[in-house]
Amino acid sequence: MLDTESLDFRASARRCGIALCFVVLFTGCKRSTNDRPVGRVLTIEVPLGLPAVPIPANNPPTADSIDLGRRLFYDTALSRDHSMSCASCHNPRLGFTDGLQVAHGVGGSRGTRNAPTLINSAYLPLQFWDGRSASLEDQAANPIANPLEMNQSHQISLAKLAENPTYPSLFFKAFGSRDINLNRVEKALASFERTILSGNSPFDRYQFGGDKGALTASQVRGLQIFLDPNKGNCGACHTVNRTDALFTDGKFHNTGEGAGDEGEFADVGRFGETKTSADMGAFKTPTLRNVANTAPYMHDGSLKTLKDVVDFYAGGGNSNTYLDKQIRVIQLTGQDRADLVEFLKSLSGEMPRNVGDPGKAVNRSSQ
Ligand code: HEC
Ligand code: HEC
Repeated sequence: MLDTESLDFRASARRCGIALCFVVLFTGCKRSTNDRPVGRVLTIEVPLGLPAVPIPANNPPTADSIDLGRRLFYDTALSRDHSMSCASCHNPRLGFTDGLQVAHGVGGSRGTRNAPTLINSAYLPLQFWDGRSASLEDQAANPIANPLEMNQSHQISLAKLAENPTYPSLFFKAFGSRDINLNRVEKALASFERTILSGNSPFDRYQFGGDKGALTASQVRGLQIFLDPNKGNCGACHTVNRTDALFTDGKFHNTGEGAGDEGEFADVGRFGETKTSADMGAFKTPTLRNVANTAPYMHDGSLKTLKDVVDFYAGGGNSNTYLDKQIRVIQLTGQDRADLVEFLKSLSGEMPRNVGDPGKAVNRSSQ
């Protein structure tokens, strides 16, 4: 059964961080140990080209917590009218995006930003285009209550899960008791998301696997342009390391995307969080993995194709007062641009088999 204590957990967990916890919130602290996944801790296997997945100390992944998170991710019960799940906007068939310019929530309400891919989001130091969430755990419950997304209060969402015939036993398996609270929902979703990894692409096999035949001649030229500081200079932000490549520095930059004629921004991006003028119009560098499958592009979804993106950069982004110093007009021939686009297509890698809709797999076998 639900109780208000479990709903209040998050606030209490924060306060538990300070010594006051002994006096004020002894029960809340006890719960925090109870919300640790039980059972054997899994090592998340990473494909060629990715570093080890960072794991928070209080949420070690287990087979049961990942399974629970996967089920929650695809469950429309978390939306007000049962019309949407996380996967409605982060669809595995569209590289964990929705193919739309900006996200559409319950009842067709429109958000203002493009749904980013969740591929390799496990590695991001901050979540969201403006970095307003510090971890996958911290992010996970936001879309449920967001009126422009799933539009259902956390309290009702938890009550629905508690009434479901199978969830209490799944929470028992994952966390050692049948309690269903927001902290557990967030942890399970985050652990599942940490398994949404893509690597071992033609690029990885060429760059890290020693397979010099994995890329076409055009893609090899595109890679050189991508990394060359005097040509594409893309690697300045879409990072490629010696032994792995996330194609993002996890930082925020102003590329001029979304700048108006007067240099003003409809969406101030990172500035909204930091209020630092250097962050005006700056957005998180997105990963480029599986990017051929995640159109349209940019925080506002305004660029439709990879060619549009390359042309945007060739023109030096959009000039404005806050433009990142790494963005400048670059000289790229038609061939260079075509090579860059071909290279970006080589970043489509293998996805794990067990990140799709678990319900669909059951339906198919019963048909
Ligand atoms: C209505 C569409 C929609 C739904 C439903 C939705 N999301 Fe999102 N998601 C978005 C959009 C749009 C953003 C970017 C918002 C922003 O940056 O301000 C986002 C961002 C994220 C991010 C940050 C990724 C990054 O690169 O910064 C994560 C993680 C995420 N969503 C997970 C989830 C989970 C888990 C659920 C289900 C509980 C969910 N989303 C449901 C549209 C959606
Ligand atoms: C100064 C850092 C920086 C440099 C240099 C840079 N990018 Fe980006 N890139 C970003 C940021 C930040 C965004 C998101 C901008 C936004 O949405 O407003 C982005 C977005 C993209 C996207 C869209 C991805 C998506 O999922 O929406 C692609 C594709 C891309 N960049 C490719 C490139 C290529 C190719 C180059 C080199 C020609 C390059 N970038 C150079 C920082 C950079």
